[in-house]
Amino acid sequence: MASFNCNIDFGGVCKTQLIFCMVLYFVFIVLSNLYPSCPSSDFFPSFWKTAPDISISSRSVVSPTISNDSPTISAISNDSPTITNDPTISNDSSTISTDSPTNLSHLVFGLVGSELAWHHRKAYIESWWRPNITRGFLFLDKEPTAELLPWSRASPPYRISDDLTTFLKKPDLTAQRIVHGIVETFREEHENLRWLVMGDDDSIFFLDNIVEILAKFDHTKYYYLGGHSEFIFSNYWFSFSQGFGGAGFMLSAPLAKALAKDLENCLSRYAHLEAADQSTMSCIADIGVSLTPLQGIHQMDMRGDASGFLSSHPQFPLMSLHHFDMVEPIFPSMDRAKSTRHLMKAAKFDQSRILQQTVCHHRKSNWTFSISWGYSVHLYERIMPRSYLQYPIETFEKWLPNPTPPHYMFNTRLPSNDSCEAPHLFFFKSIKKTPKNDVFTSFSRAWPRRLLPCSSNSAEIITKITVISPETKRTEIERCECCDVIRVHGSKADIKIRECMTDEIIA
Ligand SMILES: *[C@@H]1O[C@H](CO)[C@@H](O)[C@H](O)[C@H]1NC(C)=O
Ligand SMILES: *[C@@H]1O[C@H](CO)[C@@H](O)[C@H](O)[C@H]1NC(C)=O
Ligand SMILES: *[C@@H]1O[C@H](CO)[C@@H](O)[C@H](O)[C@H]1NC(C)=O
Ligand SMILES: *[C@@H]1O[C@H](CO)[C@@H](O)[C@H](O)[C@H]1NC(C)=O
Ligand SMILES: *[C@@H]1O[C@H](CO)[C@@H](O)[C@H](O)[C@H]1NC(C)=O
Repeated sequence: MASFNCNIDFGGVCKTQLIFCMVLYFVFIVLSNLYPSCPSSDFFPSFWKTAPDISISSRSVVSPTISNDSPTISAISNDSPTITNDPTISNDSSTISTDSPTNLSHLVFGLVGSELAWHHRKAYIESWWRPNITRGFLFLDKEPTAELLPWSRASPPYRISDDLTTFLKKPDLTAQRIVHGIVETFREEHENLRWLVMGDDDSIFFLDNIVEILAKFDHTKYYYLGGHSEFIFSNYWFSFSQGFGGAGFMLSAPLAKALAKDLENCLSRYAHLEAADQSTMSCIADIGVSLTPLQGIHQMDMRGDASGFLSSHPQFPLMSLHHFDMVEPIFPSMDRAKSTRHLMKAAKFDQSRILQQTVCHHRKSNWTFSISWGYSVHLYERIMPRSYLQYPIETFEKWLPNPTPPHYMFNTRLPSNDSCEAPHLFFFKSIKKTPKNDVFTSFSRAWPRRLLPCSSNSAEIITKITVISPETKRTEIERCECCDVIRVHGSKADIKIRECMTDEIIA
């Protein structure tokens, strides 16, 4: 879910929307301050007048493509405010509490896209979707054209979004359509549901990591998990309290159910909001639940070359990457679709390590290696501490024009032509398992650095770097891994990743 659907064009139309929203925001603030104890539904009396009196149960009539009205729809349509008192819901299988570990079968995905974009975005989704294993749906704005038929088996099954014009009178219902995807996903599939995962059609999800992280939370409690934008201004503008939905957010079963039940009331309550994620957050906040931000969910609110960001990933399992249409292809000399599949090649071997940063030093030549597992290696011609290398090199550009820093939610290092500061760049080439059951990843030089050496030990000669990592997945994430430069010979450097020693210092 893009900031204001501003994905493609943040010029004219969107600017108007932004200004419109800002004006509303201030009106909201002023009103809230004037009437602090006013019930939320009275904040916007004028909006209420334009919205029809909502009879949610009538909504199922306007769902032309989804004929299977599951019992939950009537439960959702039921206007009773307290779910737990409703026996038809309280024993619903979606609230089962068992001790079995959460696995992929407990997750249901709702991806909201558009027919127009799906023609090229399907490559992104098909790179991670596991047909007949991953549960969920793609919601389109209209029936797919002949070019998309027969529907690819590697794609999620599709549905056409509900027509919301019956209860919302607005010219543009895009944001509401996206939010409403939550109800539509939930009503289609909630058997043994523990987590509802919503996302955009240009996002890459790392399913094993998502399952791993979700399994650490109690799905019988109320959780709203998501990620901030990297671009500070987006958080400020929309909300620091929202999960940016393009990158995906996760709702535990009780929250998904409560949200689905009240969503249409809520969409009317917040009909003035133009942004999907802000609306979703508002509805969730009114249920009494706040965002738990996770560092592995990436909205990717940046432009241009994202490689600096992807080479200094936070110490947290990678869960998603959004905006693959907005950043340059993440590997040199590959298009977007191909680079997506290329990254997933590494992810298939080991999601627990993907993009995890490991730093080691070759003391003999004063070199520092910074590995982003399965993606890149940066080779510096001096010793640098991990504390410094954890900051991404700002290879990327700002999401929106923003005159003064800070721009990002993290510190950055500026790109430099200083030969002691600029790394030699290597990107992921190939991956295989060794006979000793290690994982062997090779990286090749992207291009010559074209700078004089920092000291007597130029690394220009290195063209290939190999990284060996254990086959066993990492389950603990409280400390990074360490590595050794096993040897440097000719144009090659070999590195082995291992657990850090008790007192090891990476500097
Ligand atoms: C739901 O479970 C409760 C207790 O576990 C039971 O008393 C109640 O009859 C059940 N309701 C339905 C509709 O099965
Ligand atoms: C997932 O967990 C359920 C129990 O909740 C179990 O029946 C199922 O076999 C598990 N699936 C996998 C793939 O492990
Ligand atoms: C998924 O399952 C359906 C029916 O169970 C089968 O026809 C189809 O071939 C399967 N698709 C894949 C990609 O395995
Ligand atoms: C490595 O760097 C240190 C500190 O800058 C310097 O004293 C030393 O001579 C360098 N060693 C080599 C082999 O370049
Ligand atoms: C580094 O040098 C190149 C080529 O001279 C130039 O295009 C680039 O803008 C410089 N980058 C910085 C950060 O100074």
